[in-house]
Amino acid sequence: MSTDSTPLFSPTLISPTVQSQLPPSYTCRPIQRSDYHSGFLDVLRVLTTVGDVSEAQWNKRYDWMSARSDEYFLLCILNGEDKIVGTGTLVVERKFIHNLGIVGHIEDIAVAKDQQGKKLGLRIIQALDFVAEKVGCYKSILDCSEANEGFYVKCGFKRAGLEMAHYY
Ligand code: ACO
Repeated sequence: MSTDSTPLFSPTLISPTVQSQLPPSYTCRPIQRSDYHSGFLDVLRVLTTVGDVSEAQWNKRYDWMSARSDEYFLLCILNGEDKIVGTGTLVVERKFIHNLGIVGHIEDIAVAKDQQGKKLGLRIIQALDFVAEKVGCYKSILDCSEANEGFYVKCGFKRAGLEMAHYY
């Protein structure tokens, strides 16, 4: 039976190398339902507008993702006081093309303002790369601003294609 501290996906998908390279007392793990109270949404506010998400709304969306736990991989980094200081998402898309190819989509990377510059962003990407490889993705892709291109280049990504958007 799942509880508020059941991980969203298997902790065996968390890279031991990333875990060992974090600052002392920091940890990396899949998110869990109780993370509404661990600062998860506050960390995302460094990225964009989050809005006023109630706990009931969070639980509903979390449960939706949890029912698709082979598709939604959200992980976080916690400091020594169990506060979330960074997060990242991998969405896994299963295709017909490329021999039933599987593609990872990296989304919503955020590190708390006062924690930036400690390689936590790099560790989040490395952790998501590890999940992507383990679940069989042949590549991972992401969209970012020009201002963040240098960060993703340092993480091993290269410019490919052009983002287009249609807002509804
Ligand atoms: N441009 C160029 N280089 C950068 C940038 C940047 N914007 N940010 C970091 N770097 C470099 C660092 O200097 C470091 O280089 P080094 O290895 O030579 O020392 C390397 O990239 C790794 O940096 P980290 O310390 O891991 O970066 P940090 O933990 O600060 O995380 C991040 C970077 C995630 C961009 C953070 O600044 C942040 O949360 N920003 C606000 C939210 C945001 O823009 N998120 C990305 C949106 S795109 C998406 O989600 C797909």
